[in-house]
Amino acid sequence: MTISDYRTALVTGASSGIGEATVRALCAQGLETVALARRRDRLEGLADDTGCRILDLDLCDTAALYQALEGLEIDVLVNNAGVGPGTGQLLLAEPEDIDVTNATNVGGVLHATKALLPGMVARQRGHVLVVSSIAGIHPTGAVAYGGSKAAAHLICQNLRLELQGSGVRVTEICPGRVMSGFFEANLPNEEAIREASTGFTLMQPEDIAEAVVYAIAAPWRVNVACIELQATEQATGGVQIAPVAEVEEGVRWRD
Ligand SMILES: NC(=O)c1ccc[n+]([C@@H]2O[C@H](COP(=O)([O-])OP(=O)(O)OC[C@H]3O[C@@H](n4cnc5c(N)ncnc54)[C@H](OP(=O)(O)O)[C@@H]3O)[C@@H](O)[C@H]2O)c1
Repeated sequence: MTISDYRTALVTGASSGIGEATVRALCAQGLETVALARRRDRLEGLADDTGCRILDLDLCDTAALYQALEGLEIDVLVNNAGVGPGTGQLLLAEPEDIDVTNATNVGGVLHATKALLPGMVARQRGHVLVVSSIAGIHPTGAVAYGGSKAAAHLICQNLRLELQGSGVRVTEICPGRVMSGFFEANLPNEEAIREASTGFTLMQPEDIAEAVVYAIAAPWRVNVACIELQATEQATGGVQIAPVAEVEEGVRWRD
């Protein structure tokens, strides 16, 4: 199985950023591609440019999702849609932001995959990709978002076990910071958006789309299990030591 054996693809979160770039890349590879997101106007522009088909729906509407995907013969599923509203800190998080993060980043991946997997297994031809994040494999301070992406990481690892011998491959793509619509969609104010998107050279959505193409173009004997991409000027890791917070004026806890 190589890219030439795949005929069809579906990309979630296709109305901007990484998903949009991935639809463009897959269409350029000759795959009949379905672009899924909520903003129909943006999907229509993408369809005009690429000839992709569009599905405008909310991934979190589980019943509508299964209904829309039923009967679709999809060889390559790119689970890319994702959100991370707020600052990342649990103390400051709104309860509904936690819910939408889990529903989109975990529920969306599981349900879209479950809806399309039986056909892949029956045809012994398929590739499930998940765009997770370095926040799922390294601590970045994004508590709910990182947790949801860590779930995506283990979903990929366990799915690879479940699908062993089925002919269906599973690839996780873990990007570092990418210039996309993500900051406008998720960060609370202009200052936070500016801070996230400036100060160093971010990756572009096309860089991640190229990794998707690399994974699906690998020879059949190769399952590209996980690709981690960091901006050259970004790194994760190290140890931080912070003094214990002052709990009363002039008094340090455990002094
Ligand atoms: N940008 C980064 O620095 C970065 C880093 C690591 C990982 N990632 C991950 O990369 C993926 C793509 O993000 P991006 O950077 O390209 O951000 P983006 O430009 O904000 O794209 C997110 C996409 O997800 C779609 N989406 C969100 N909620 C949805 C829902 N309920 N139903 C259907 N579609 C939904 C959005 O479309 P609609 O609003 O039209 O529905 C949009 O097309 C995400 O999973 C993100 O977590 C991003």
